[in-house]
Amino acid sequence: MNNKQILPEPYRAKMVEAIRLLPPAQRRKRLEEAGFNTFLLRSEDVYIDLLTDSGTNAMTDVQWAALMRGDEAYAGSRSFEALEAAVRDVYGFPFIVPTHQGRGAEHLLSRSWIKPGQHVPGNMYFTTTRLHQELAGGVFDDVIVDQAHQPDSTHPFKGDIDLDKLKALVQRLGQDKIAYAAVAAPVNMAGGQPISLGNLKAVSDFCRSKGIRVVLDAARAVENAWFIREREDGYADWTLGEILREMCSLVDACTMSAKKDAYVNIGGFLATHDRGLYEEAMNLCVVYEGLHTYGGLAGRDLEALAVGVREMVEGTWMDHRISQVRYLAARIEDAGAPFVVPVGGHAVFLDARRFLPHLPQEALPAQALSAWLYEECGVRTMERGTVSAGRDDQGRDRRPALELVRLTLPRRVYTQSHLDYVAAGVGRLYARRGSLPGLKFVYEPKRLRFFQSRFCPLPAAAATGANSDHPKASAY
Ligand code: F0G
Repeated sequence: MNNKQILPEPYRAKMVEAIRLLPPAQRRKRLEEAGFNTFLLRSEDVYIDLLTDSGTNAMTDVQWAALMRGDEAYAGSRSFEALEAAVRDVYGFPFIVPTHQGRGAEHLLSRSWIKPGQHVPGNMYFTTTRLHQELAGGVFDDVIVDQAHQPDSTHPFKGDIDLDKLKALVQRLGQDKIAYAAVAAPVNMAGGQPISLGNLKAVSDFCRSKGIRVVLDAARAVENAWFIREREDGYADWTLGEILREMCSLVDACTMSAKKDAYVNIGGFLATHDRGLYEEAMNLCVVYEGLHTYGGLAGRDLEALAVGVREMVEGTWMDHRISQVRYLAARIEDAGAPFVVPVGGHAVFLDARRFLPHLPQEALPAQALSAWLYEECGVRTMERGTVSAGRDDQGRDRRPALELVRLTLPRRVYTQSHLDYVAAGVGRLYARRGSLPGLKFVYEPKRLRFFQSRFCPLPAAAATGANSDHPKASAY
């Protein structure tokens, strides 16, 4: 990796927030109190927070100014009109239903378009997306290319759908059993891997020929557009906005977590070309989110989001973001630690299987690695492995091929020297990796267990202990 130089951050600080590094003994104590789950740490006890890029963005001065223009009317807010206009201009969808965040939109979509027993093929699961599909009675089927499950495959578009897998599924079930195809761009759980426009078009053509609808998860679609421009023939001269609109023209609807691409701290929406979905989702919005002109958001949030949607495709924000992620990956590579390649747009994903080869999957290597990294240097990260994958409908642990720890970069928050510090911490931990123990569950909640589970360390020598009988609230 030769990407060692990056341009300085394309911003200057106008307001700062103090952070502090606890001494090692206190970090160990906090980790124990948090049940070795980084989600249960207090933010105050975290030095550099790479848990997520969701809602952790620093807004521009223009977005902050827009907050003051928020129209807090219950109905018909001017701020909703600003959002609607921005989404129409930037994404090209005529119909927009605002929601409090991405999973709100997933809920409305799943209830509107999934009939119990129907299947939803997609390019790898996402935690909340799959759960909403299942709660609506649907079954998720992974039809991503095999390379997505291989952390060392250098395929440039590991987010692509395997057309043969998709066609075989439709052939086997019949098109009436397919609620819609769910396309994430990029694929978070695979390491932030993009889908090519050529593949999205092929999926769209096939689905349209069968009368199957296609839904885009647009949370980080601008990042995906950046990779299309970099890697796919024919798009080098397109703007990010043009690529994004092209992507959206190939699908029937999108769900959006605006806490990512759109640089806000809260918000989301469902957007569509389909009037029927719009009317159904708008009606469900009133039940679950709030009136269809605020969807659980304050007027000021809508206003900041409207600005964020326009700004996200402009300037050098995305160039900088991706160069920051690559810079961190290059520093970690210098330290010798293994991570998923190619590096995606929002995070570096450490490969816990190769980082901790002495730990079997039952010893939860990715959960353990994220815990020990906090203890080592106060850096908070997130497990994306067995714990996140949850249980299948028989109550058995799912065993994903990927056991990853995500070092996610909040947008416009940290500087290059923060990244140097993080990489140095990863390097120190890697140097003493052989002594790091695994973890086992001591508590597991019913749904989305990664958020609230608690763990304890396995004795170093007995790292092979099975966790199949770990305590749980129910076999979800
Ligand atoms: N889709 C993708 C690809 C996501 O990454 C997320 C959230 C959602 C949907 C749900 O959106 O959080 O606004 O309800 N991802 C966060 C993360 C939680 O850390 O990756 P939400």
